[in-house]
Amino acid sequence: MQVVIVNSAQEVANLGARHCLNLITANPRAVLGLATGSTPVALYGELIELQAKGAISFEQCLSFNLDEYIGLDPRHPQSYRYFMNIQLFDHIDIDKNNTYVPDGMSDPQQSAIDYEKEIATAGGIDLQILGVGRNGHIGFNEPSSSLVSRTRIKTLTAGTIADNKRFFTVDEFQPSLAITMGIATILESKKILLLATGASKAKAVRDLVEGPLSASCPASALQMHNNTVVIIDREAASELAHSEYYQQVNLETEQLANNND
Ligand code: GLP
Repeated sequence: MQVVIVNSAQEVANLGARHCLNLITANPRAVLGLATGSTPVALYGELIELQAKGAISFEQCLSFNLDEYIGLDPRHPQSYRYFMNIQLFDHIDIDKNNTYVPDGMSDPQQSAIDYEKEIATAGGIDLQILGVGRNGHIGFNEPSSSLVSRTRIKTLTAGTIADNKRFFTVDEFQPSLAITMGIATILESKKILLLATGASKAKAVRDLVEGPLSASCPASALQMHNNTVVIIDREAASELAHSEYYQQVNLETEQLANNND
């Protein structure tokens, strides 16, 4: 796991976008794993700008989103399909037929099975973008999720429902069930970028980077992945015990790369 600590949320987005740019430049047919939540919005903004400038094209890319609420129509403003259209897909040249979001409407159990097959047919995910919940969840894999889980239905914790309440209007139906890629599904991605910003994520970041591997912090499963980059701002890094070490590693890796140029 590489831990990169930068000064601001905007720098988190810029660096995340650079990883995406490098991947798509090397492989224009890349399969992207995408996330919702407020954290990746700035990264999506950067990708939109890069595409507007002609630096990147998503024409041949495929994308798979992590999760979707059960019981929200894709046209519902709080559905993750709607979120992705508004925040990214409507503004880039990706073919929407190549953008997959789990179907939380018809038969979620069957949708989960189908989703796994669709990811496999696409050849797997090249780069998975992740945020993290305050309780350490990734996608909607809440604490106690099996570390070998696949795409399935999950019940959301009261804390997650409360955290996401801000997106719903008062009295609006807020689902308590979701369909989410499993932890094993996520770990099969060739590369993973986890982004976190702000002090409210500091504990989750500490647990996922330095805590024990445990279903109590589902994101700690990333310790078992050999190509994960955790990009965080100073506030999200504030509870890490070894931030100086992570910075030293990055500096030395950069120096080595420069010497080899
Ligand atoms: C939701 C999503 C997660 C996301 C999390 C954190 O629960 N299912 O994928 O990481 O929220 O969201 P935010 O970035 O808004 O803090």
